[in-house]
Amino acid sequence: MLADSHNNQDVEKAIIPLMVPAFEGNEWTYVKDCLDTGWVSSAGSYVNKFEQEVIRYINCPYGVACMNGTVGLQISLQVLGVTADHHVLLPNGTFVASANSIMHIGAEPIFVDINSQNWQMDLDILETFLSEECRQEKGQTINIISGKVIKAIMIVHIYGQICDMDKLLALARQFNLLVIEDASESLGATYKGKHAGTMGDIGVISFNGNKIITTGGGGMIVSENQDYIQKAQHLTTTAKVANKNYFHDQVGYNYRLVNILAAIGVAQVEQLEQYLTKKRAIATHYFDRLKTISAINFQETNDGVEPNFWLIGFCSDRKKQLMHEFKKQRINFGHFWTPMNKLPMYKNHQYIQRNNVTAKVANQCICIPCSISLTLEQMERVCQSIQKCFTLNQLK
Ligand SMILES: Cc1ncc(COP(=O)(O)O)c(C=O)c1O
Repeated sequence: MLADSHNNQDVEKAIIPLMVPAFEGNEWTYVKDCLDTGWVSSAGSYVNKFEQEVIRYINCPYGVACMNGTVGLQISLQVLGVTADHHVLLPNGTFVASANSIMHIGAEPIFVDINSQNWQMDLDILETFLSEECRQEKGQTINIISGKVIKAIMIVHIYGQICDMDKLLALARQFNLLVIEDASESLGATYKGKHAGTMGDIGVISFNGNKIITTGGGGMIVSENQDYIQKAQHLTTTAKVANKNYFHDQVGYNYRLVNILAAIGVAQVEQLEQYLTKKRAIATHYFDRLKTISAINFQETNDGVEPNFWLIGFCSDRKKQLMHEFKKQRINFGHFWTPMNKLPMYKNHQYIQRNNVTAKVANQCICIPCSISLTLEQMERVCQSIQKCFTLNQLK
């Protein structure tokens, strides 16, 4: 599965990117078709085809394509009935868009720490918070500190891993909370055979340029609930009423994905299976090659989870040395996000934690190259650089 590039004399000198998209299929053909036929905007057959192909792949009955994952999350919250009167729980370690989407509708996020093994929301901390710091009233869960209703959990499948969804969904049922899956990073990842995005009430996938498949910018809202997706479709298309001239029955949004981008998406989804196989092969290769270095702790995989390995990261207390070595070897790397509670607009929001694991992961995590196009030689260069940092003072 892994490409061999013995013939490329320049590979040693070239920068190894962290993650770049691959366009090896019908992308040019389908985009040309849009340009040739003039179907470039939000009406056009590629948008519907893209929706059909993605929902077929993830085995979910309904989906609607939108401009990006961020607006997909915003619309999902709206169709679930989350309003400015509500709280939404989400992990403290996530990309800022998850939290922003909650703020965009005027609701208030509550951040929950992540755990040190799989870096997903810590469900024990969540359970203690819901049991001990909230009260039940008329079938609703009220946050004692603010007196506000907690309406939903936005679970983020961080880096294409998935938490113990059985436990999360049981907690959601017990406390009468809706579940939005921020599956932006996790297309193709599964939990006990079910695809990320299809286990909660509603799910959102991103097709940003850095995702496993991309439309440049794009997103999709998916659900088993037809009503949610119909509402999402309506809201994302300026709430236009069918068969009536310019009649709109709500303040809607111009959020529908455009045909020219969906055309790229159709070509990308044709290659998704192959990309997932490659991503998993890259991860297996790194794990195998680096297993003797006990001082690096890769993000762990929960039982029942088949990750998509969107990003591959580990924690190490030698992050500085690793960064120095990677820079020297022209290897690009990535950091974990700044924890939400450390951002100016979120620092005064409630953060539920015991040992502030998000801070530790943010300080120690380093992500290593994992593009679909990564070669064996490039991986070897990465592994040798890592090894060097641990052999300088003996292997731990
Ligand atoms: C966890 C997470 N949530 C939301 C988003 C937002 O998606 P988009 O960039 O498509 O708006 C991203 C990534 O971009 C993400 O990684």
